[in-house]
Amino acid sequence: VGGKLRPVAPRELAAHSTEGDAWLAIRGRVYNVTHYLAYHPGGTEELMRGAGMDATELFDKVHPWVNYDSLLAKCLVGPLRVDRPDAE
Ligand code: HEM
Repeated sequence: VGGKLRPVAPRELAAHSTEGDAWLAIRGRVYNVTHYLAYHPGGTEELMRGAGMDATELFDKVHPWVNYDSLLAKCLVGPLRVDRPDAE
């Protein structure tokens, strides 16, 4: 598919926190995990714990060895913007 990447503000990330529309960030990269939910070996409910937020800490607590960036390559939305948290 390969759309254009774009920076995501934290409050935009926070708006995508339901099973029908789930984004999360790991190490500064925002992924749309909506379609990955059904394939997550730990289940939908576990993955949803990280939805709408910077899930780095949670992810690393559970399975720091998992190559999320390769698994979610097609789900990358763009970099998480941290410099201006309230910017649109
Ligand atoms: C497995 C939780 C995010 C990929 C698991 C398991 C849990 C879990 C509890 C263990 C399942 C079991 O063995 O019964 C979470 C939580 C997440 C999260 C709370 C919130 C951030 C992700 C992401 C990916 C991912 C973003 C990658 C796209 C995997 C994989 C396994 C797994 C590949 C199997 C790992 C293995 O057996 O070595 N997850 N997960 N998870 N998760 Fe996640």
